[in-house]
Amino acid sequence: MSAQAPSKRLFIKTYGCQMNVYDSERMADVLSPLGYTMTETPQGADLVVLNTCHIREKATEKVYSELGKLKEMREERLAEGGARMTIAVAGCVAQAEGEEIMRRQPAVDLVVGPQAYHQLPELIARTHRSRGERLSANFEPQDKFDALAPAGRKANGVTAFLTIQEGCDKFCTFCVVPYTRGPEWSRPAAAIEAEARSLAGQGVREVTLLGQNVNAYGDGAGGGLGGLVRRLAKIPGLDRIRYTTSHPRDMDEALIAAHAEVEALMPYLHLPVQSGSDRILKAMNRGHTAERYLGLVEQVRAARPDIALSGDFIVGFPGESEADFEATLQLVREVGYASAFTFKYSRRPGTPAASLDGQVAEAEKADRLARLNTLLDAQQRAFNAAQAGRVLPVLFERPGRNPGDLIGRSPYLQSVHIRAPEGLIGRIAPVRIVAAAKMSLAGELALESA
Ligand code: SAH
Ligand code: SF4
Ligand code: F3S
Repeated sequence: MSAQAPSKRLFIKTYGCQMNVYDSERMADVLSPLGYTMTETPQGADLVVLNTCHIREKATEKVYSELGKLKEMREERLAEGGARMTIAVAGCVAQAEGEEIMRRQPAVDLVVGPQAYHQLPELIARTHRSRGERLSANFEPQDKFDALAPAGRKANGVTAFLTIQEGCDKFCTFCVVPYTRGPEWSRPAAAIEAEARSLAGQGVREVTLLGQNVNAYGDGAGGGLGGLVRRLAKIPGLDRIRYTTSHPRDMDEALIAAHAEVEALMPYLHLPVQSGSDRILKAMNRGHTAERYLGLVEQVRAARPDIALSGDFIVGFPGESEADFEATLQLVREVGYASAFTFKYSRRPGTPAASLDGQVAEAEKADRLARLNTLLDAQQRAFNAAQAGRVLPVLFERPGRNPGDLIGRSPYLQSVHIRAPEGLIGRIAPVRIVAAAKMSLAGELALESA
């Protein structure tokens, strides 16, 4: 009989971007040999990890309010004679604030930055032994990936995230990411391919390649993301490839050509612009103009005419006038987005924009956000409505809310709800779109037209 580590319960709460989702799964992998199994709630967990986001003030504040709740939960449990829950803070707040977190909330046992997750087992053991040495944050991504992936990675479903690049050298003046995730760094292509092959072997049909600046990916030999996509597209079973998030400055010809030529590369591009005003783009240090962005959109659409475009927008950046904001609305009208993420500018301590004059009043930001959202919502509805009557290849991902329903994804990343047998999960089948709403489509199997 093999000796088994006693089962301990692990709860991970993930905030922020998809790279944190990927990291949370890797943390669960690295803790499983220690006997930790995942649970759905913090109640009864032996170890709680908050994988945090620092991008906007609200994101950071959420973490502290959650920590307050966990502290109470722990005290109640101890009063009832239960075991002590270990509380760990990971992610970008951990990297940005370090030990400050423990000063603000002494209930925290351990703080671990994004490049140190492979040290988690050791850190937890140490915490248990001495409750000392509670901080680990460094910038050696190579060590992290060597230790965390791909060995031991278990696929979880038919789609998967795969981190290929981390960090950012762009230093947009509003943004904390260059400080929380360190400089741009790309994983070796061979390691990425090995992980993708292992996922495909376990039934994964679609991977989303992740990076803070995913299209800044470089394999060290001059090959960029376009080349990597071509390489991964050859893996048997891996039918769909996506990537996010891209920066307009790194959108090169080879990647655009891949959109025209690689069938597995899905017709969806998330290409944040932030603003349509050149004056504001300059103050943001984005390194491109509105015209350059529109030119890129034109090139991408020439390569793949049906591509769905998505973007990120910030309203109320310091100094943004009504005319600057109108320029953003105008850019949105010219592009026509399939989806978008919009944000009120949030002042982040330590970033250059935080100390700029001309901070925009909260009410003004809210008003601009509402106007921008009205326009983008209408575009999203129109994009979805245009699919009605079409037959789209849908990847069936999981059961829907009602028995007999499945949820799948269109090539354009729309959720599609279909009445279909469960055996179709993991398959791609043609679906006739019969109805469209803002967030999803409804369809029926159209197998005869396969
Ligand atoms: N690397 C990605 C973005 C990462 S952050 C890129 O450059 O596109 C995701 C989004 O959060 C950004 O695109 C931006 O729109 C928003 N964001 C970042 N910092 C912000 C801030 N201080 N206030 C409001 N929104 C912000
Ligand atoms: Fe932040 Fe700009 Fe880097 Fe994106 S490119 S992560 S917005 S600094
Ligand atoms: Fe947030 Fe860090 Fe991602 S700040 S958006 S979790 S890189």
